[in-house]
Amino acid sequence: MNLKMISKEEKYLDEWVMNYRSLGINGQCADYIPALKESNLSDLGVYMINPDGVEIKSGDWEIPFTLQSISKVISFIAACLDRGISYVLERVDVEPTGDAFNSIVRLEMHKPGKPFNPMINAGAITVASLLYGESPEQKLESIYALIEKMVGKRPTLNEKVFQSEWKTANRNRALAYYLKESGFLESEVEVALEVYLKQCSIEVNTKDIALIGLILSQNGYDPIHKRQIFPKQLAKLIKGLMLTCGMYNASGKFAAFVGIPAKSGVSGGIMASVPARYRQELPFQTGCGIGIYGPAIDEYGNSLAGVELLKHIAEVWDFSIF
Ligand code: DON
Repeated sequence: MNLKMISKEEKYLDEWVMNYRSLGINGQCADYIPALKESNLSDLGVYMINPDGVEIKSGDWEIPFTLQSISKVISFIAACLDRGISYVLERVDVEPTGDAFNSIVRLEMHKPGKPFNPMINAGAITVASLLYGESPEQKLESIYALIEKMVGKRPTLNEKVFQSEWKTANRNRALAYYLKESGFLESEVEVALEVYLKQCSIEVNTKDIALIGLILSQNGYDPIHKRQIFPKQLAKLIKGLMLTCGMYNASGKFAAFVGIPAKSGVSGGIMASVPARYRQELPFQTGCGIGIYGPAIDEYGNSLAGVELLKHIAEVWDFSIF
């Protein structure tokens, strides 16, 4: 992509962001975490970057937001690096559920109560307990260090969001106690919960998550700093999980109509990863990472405007892996 093309693609992005922004105005922010209620419904931003470091961006791409469930991708990679893939997969499965992200039902229905996948809360709380170390600080360090390697800066925590989540985490607490009782949680309940809720409260912007999406698209290789951050096998595993479980109980629709590995969070972020394609005339032919932010969410917990914007980009530039 040369500079002339970039400005052309960026103009398209500006137009699309303008068109889809209004979807958010009629939506709602996640209100079960009181601090998230304060977001501006009409915010919408996107940042895309290719392996040569060529970037295009539009709208409110610089607005900070909390990772929320996007952190589940990072904690899973960190736990696999700490413990090995097979150790982690003995404790968390890789099957989609079709249930809401915070559902408790399958832990009881399917014995012995192993969480179905690391992208739902039961799986992510279990993964948090598997991270290296005993204390929440030690466990979080695995996540912080991995983010720092991929994004190039030490992540910071949004303390207000964390406090807000901590006080209202009754369902997550119930999930954690259930997992403890069935033997899947490897730490104390309060330790796993603190790690999980703090990882959700890490502050990022669309560029940060686009960089992580780019590394995923290159199978764990950071093409900008030219180093392998995590093994290819792990990148393929997590992308499979993102495709089948990353957009919660709308993952099937997203795979069918958008067709790229992606992970959403209730604060309105979406991180997506596009592999290289063969058609040379298309933009981002060598693949890219995409970060999107639009805080109004739909009934599944995915960004309303963000999903539609991503669907449109993927259609026009032929991003689907199928
Ligand atoms: O577990 C929770 O309630 C949140 N901290 C994370 C949820 C999340 O992002 C799920 N949704 N898309």
